[in-house]
Amino acid sequence: MSMPDAESPVSESPVSESPVSAAPVSTSRDPAKGPDTAAAPIDARLLPPNHDIDASGALRIGGVSVQELAEVYGTPLFIYDEEGIRQRARAFAQWFGARNVTYASKAFACRAMVELVDEEGLSLDVSTGGELDMALRAGFDPARIVLHGNNKSDAEIMTALAAGVGLVVVDSFDEIDRLVRHARSVGTIPAVLVRVNPGVEAHTHDYITTGLADSKFGFGYQNGQASLACEAVSRSNDLHLAGIHAHIGSQVFALDSFARSAEVLVELAADLDRFTEHEMSVLDLGGGLGVNYHAGDDAPSIDRYGTTTVDAFNAALRGGADHGLLGDIRLMIEPGRSLVAPCAITVYRVGTIKDIPGIVRYIAVDGGMSDNLRPSLYQADYEVFDPTRVAAPRPERATIAGKHCEQGDLIVKNAAVPADVSIGDLVATAVTGAYGYSMASNYNKVPRPAVVFVRDGEHRLVIRRETFDDLARLDC
Ligand code: LLP
Repeated sequence: MSMPDAESPVSESPVSESPVSAAPVSTSRDPAKGPDTAAAPIDARLLPPNHDIDASGALRIGGVSVQELAEVYGTPLFIYDEEGIRQRARAFAQWFGARNVTYASKAFACRAMVELVDEEGLSLDVSTGGELDMALRAGFDPARIVLHGNNKSDAEIMTALAAGVGLVVVDSFDEIDRLVRHARSVGTIPAVLVRVNPGVEAHTHDYITTGLADSKFGFGYQNGQASLACEAVSRSNDLHLAGIHAHIGSQVFALDSFARSAEVLVELAADLDRFTEHEMSVLDLGGGLGVNYHAGDDAPSIDRYGTTTVDAFNAALRGGADHGLLGDIRLMIEPGRSLVAPCAITVYRVGTIKDIPGIVRYIAVDGGMSDNLRPSLYQADYEVFDPTRVAAPRPERATIAGKHCEQGDLIVKNAAVPADVSIGDLVATAVTGAYGYSMASNYNKVPRPAVVFVRDGEHRLVIRRETFDDLARLDC
C-alpha cells in the first residue's frame, strides 16, 4: 500500500509577511439592500482569470467569444477557463507541494477535470463510490486518491482498498472495525487519517460548517473521541495510522480559523505521538477557503491562505519542542471551491420578462435551481451581467428567475442588470465553477447543461448537454 509521498515536508513560507486576518463572514449582501456597487459594471475580479473584452465590449474567456460558445453549444452553458484552474492549482502547489494539494472532486468533476488534476500532479479527494469510480475510470493514480465519506459502504471500502487508494479518512468507530476486516480480506494495510472535529468556528453558513462538536463528520477533539479513534487505528496491525485530518467548513474567509485548526491538529498529533511512536506523518487541514462572489467580498488570496496556514503549522510544530514531530510532517490541504469557482461562468438565455408594477421585474432564463441550487439552499448570491456588453453599467434592478415550478427558483434576487435586457439576450452569472454543475439535478425533467473548457483560443466540450433520451434511459 503506498500513500502520497512526502514531497513537501514542513516548509518555510515563500513570502515573508504573514497576516492572520479575521476577515468578515463570507455571506454575500442582503438582496433587500441592493447591490454593493449600484449601477457599476461587473467587477472584472469576478470574471475568470484569463478573460478579456473584445473591441465590441463582449467577453472572451481563454481567447474565445462567450457569445460564440453560447451559439455553438447552446444555453445554459458552463464555461470554464482551463488555464485559470491550472494557475490556481500551481498557486496552491507552491505552498504545499502539488501532491499535498488534494482537489475535492465534489466541487466539480468530470473526466477532463480529473485529467487536469492528474496533469498538474495534485491528489484527488473522493467521498463516494461514484467519485472514486470516475477517478479510476479516468486513470487517476490510486496512490494519490484520498477516500472520504461519513458513511462509506462496504463496497466503497473494498473497491478503494483493492484499487490501492493512498489514504482512507476514517469517520466513525464502526468504520474502523470494518476497515480492519476489509483490509484483511483484500490483503493490504491501508494508510489511514482520522477525521477530527477541532471545535473551531468557521464563521460560514450552518449547512457548510463541519468542524464543531455537533457534526455528523469525524471525531471530537475536546471530548476525547479523536484520541480514542487514533489509538484504535494505531493499535491495529491491519491499519497504518498515517495522520489526522480536519475540515472546518466551506466558503471560509476567517484565516485565523484555519490557523487555529492547524494548531489543534499539531496539539493532538503531539499528544498522541507518545504512544503512536512517530507513526504519524500527515496533517491534513481539509478544504474550505472562500472565494469572492460579489464585488464587496474580500476573500483571502491563495497566497495569504498559504502563508497563514503554513506559518501556523510551523509555529505550532516548533512550539511543543518535546515531541518528535518536527521535520517529519507532511501538510496537506483539500481545496475544492477555491480551485474552480472563480474560473467559470454560467450563460443563460432570457426567455421571458414579467413586470409587476411597483414590485419587481422578473427576467426568466432557461436554467435555474437545476443548474445552481446554491441560492435556494444557502441563500447564496451572485452577480449578473450581459456577456455581450461586459463594461455596461447596470442601472436597473431585476430578479433573475429560473424555469422550475417553484417560486423559490430564483437565481439572483434583486440583481443589478444592464438597461433594456430583452427577450433573447444572453445573461450570465459569475463565479459558478464550484457546486453548480456538481449539485445539478433533473428537477422538472430539465436536462443538465453542457460544460465547456476553454484555453488558448480553443474550446472543447467536456460534458455534453443531456437529452430527453438521457432522461428517459433509467425507466424500466
Ligand atoms: N474536504 C472535505 C472533507 C470536505 O467535506 C469538503 C467540502 C472539501 C474538502 C472541499 O471544501 P471547499 O474547499 O470546496 O470549501 N455545497 C456547498 C459546499 C459543501 C462543501 C462540502 N465539503 C456549497 O455549495 O457551498
